[in-house]
Amino acid sequence: FDKNNFQQDLINWFKKEQRSLPWRDNQDPYRVWVSEIMLQQTKVDTVIPYFNRFIEKFPTPEKLAEADEQEVLKAWEGLGYYSRARNLQNAIREVVSDYGGKVPEEADELASLKGVGPYTKGAILSIAYDKPEPAVDGNVMRVLSRILHIQDDIAKQSTKKLFEGIIREVISQEDPSSFNQGLMELGALVCTPKSPSCMLCPVQEHCRAYQEGVEQELPVKTKT
Ligand code: ADE
Repeated sequence: FDKNNFQQDLINWFKKEQRSLPWRDNQDPYRVWVSEIMLQQTKVDTVIPYFNRFIEKFPTPEKLAEADEQEVLKAWEGLGYYSRARNLQNAIREVVSDYGGKVPEEADELASLKGVGPYTKGAILSIAYDKPEPAVDGNVMRVLSRILHIQDDIAKQSTKKLFEGIIREVISQEDPSSFNQGLMELGALVCTPKSPSCMLCPVQEHCRAYQEGVEQELPVKTKT
């Protein structure tokens, strides 16, 4: 597996083909955080208008921290999973009170905040702060399981850990943000769950599943 060529092919494709999305306008860690929380159980197309309204209403950590919880929940109405909104506001209040309103750049500090699990932590560190940290969700596991022909059950927590370890080894040190977002974008646009568009894939030549004609059999997933 040619790591350097893989990184380059993925990053070049992402820079050229990425969708224009509001949370990609800049690297503001607060905006990255809000977007990643919204995107966890909700599709991109649904999230876009909610994200824009939310940021308009609460443009900074300070504004979100001082808002009434009811106001925040109202802005979240329709997105569901309201604990996401409550946790986000609680965590942002801590950022304002304990970190001067600056989203921490330290992995352990981020991880201590309400609602910030390994995925959100890695997304903020890589996308907002250009740190080579993994951000592994279901899409990333699907893409990587195909490229590297990994047959471990992605429903298992241990498999997520395995993928995090692999990403640490293969992530670009020069542009971890484009690398991680490239994996997410590839999963959304090309390496889809059903009928992936391998003919359009920028990393086809690196993909073991494609070479062996088994892209549809991966990832392996047991329980729903
Ligand atoms: N899904 C999860 N995170 C995303 C992001 N930053 N951009 C697009 N889709 C995503």
